[in-house]
Amino acid sequence: MKTLEVSTSSSNYPVYIGDGIRRNIVDLITSTRCSYTKLLIVTDSAVDAIYGSEMVRFLEQKWSVQKVVVPNGEQSKSFSQFEHIHTKAIQFQLDRSSCIMALGGGVIGDLAGFVAATYMRGIDFIQVPTTLLAHDSAVGGKTGINHPLGKNLIGAFHQPRAVIYDTSMLDTLSDTELRSGFAEVIKHALISSNDFLSELMSIRSLTELSKEQLAHMLYQGIQVKASIVQEDEKEQGVRAFLNLGHTLGHAIEAEYGYGAITHGDAIAIGLQFALYVSEKHLGLSLNRSDLKEWMKGLGFPVQIRQDISTNIFVDRMVGDKKAIGGRVQFVLLKQVGDVTLQSFTKEELHDWLEKWKREDGCL
Ligand SMILES: NC(=O)c1ccc[n+]([C@@H]2O[C@H](COP(=O)([O-])OP(=O)(O)OC[C@H]3O[C@@H](n4cnc5c(N)ncnc54)[C@H](O)[C@@H]3O)[C@@H](O)[C@H]2O)c1
Repeated sequence: MKTLEVSTSSSNYPVYIGDGIRRNIVDLITSTRCSYTKLLIVTDSAVDAIYGSEMVRFLEQKWSVQKVVVPNGEQSKSFSQFEHIHTKAIQFQLDRSSCIMALGGGVIGDLAGFVAATYMRGIDFIQVPTTLLAHDSAVGGKTGINHPLGKNLIGAFHQPRAVIYDTSMLDTLSDTELRSGFAEVIKHALISSNDFLSELMSIRSLTELSKEQLAHMLYQGIQVKASIVQEDEKEQGVRAFLNLGHTLGHAIEAEYGYGAITHGDAIAIGLQFALYVSEKHLGLSLNRSDLKEWMKGLGFPVQIRQDISTNIFVDRMVGDKKAIGGRVQFVLLKQVGDVTLQSFTKEELHDWLEKWKREDGCL
């Protein structure tokens, strides 16, 4: 098992990564030196079917445990599920010394974390990530739900007490979801170092990764995320670098329709655009076509749909919560590992998107 310590201005917590470590979950939780009155597991229907009862069995050895299950998928990051879990927490009489466990991917981590952030003005929560993408979402304390008018608009910063990442749980993940999470690993490599990126680019098939490769890759990705969060917990500065590829990515997700494209596939397209602008605007010397072909070979989409107009994507980007005064804060690379923020007007963004689509970004 590998352990990584995350230290932010509001708290310190361990991230445990290892094959089969959920079997020691009681010891791992106890070693964070927290004593809890009750534990509420929040999970989704698909994860519950595989891991739900086993997790209850493990935890019942030490605590009084209840479980609340929401439908799987992005639509559960909603006001109604948020209220539903609060209702269950009240009925189960969780108190300030109780703990919520998020057992699932990024959706469950964000949703359960936000309930923990708000129940009785904040109680502990533990992340048990079960997707590859959640190596990103489980660390850093961003929690929240979607508003019908936009993704992740309602939320709070609330750091978990511990992150317990059992890599063997990724065995049951679909190839599509595995790829989705890998997009965030690529992003972590792009914003951190050429070595990490070259290591990743030697991977030709995600389904043939060994357990050791997977654990090593996750460790590196989490390290990148943790070091940024440590420096800038509340996204006043460098944390925004984690949004590389996300400005267009979020617009694509919203426009194609949640469920029609995974978060990671949308980010994969967003990354191509961000790298194009980085090259043309800042002289990034990365071999973009190699990276694009490699990602394509792994199954990622790398071009945007032709049938949705540039204006529609630009309007979405300007409406993003990271836009300030109508200017879009765009993350670009000067070089791999050397990240910068550029602010673009709506018109500038429109021009860049049009150019990219003409040159190589359109299906
Ligand atoms: N808080 C953050 O910092 C942060 C960062 C990145 C993304 N996110 C959020 O994360 C969410 C996406 O997360 P995700 O991609 O993990 O999606 P997800 O939680 O919806 O999981 C994807 C699918 O995989 C299933 N699943 C999960 N674990 C499984 C397993 N081990 N075996 C079989 N099936 C399993 C789920 O039931 C779901 O259907 C988005 O809402 C995004 O906004 C948050």
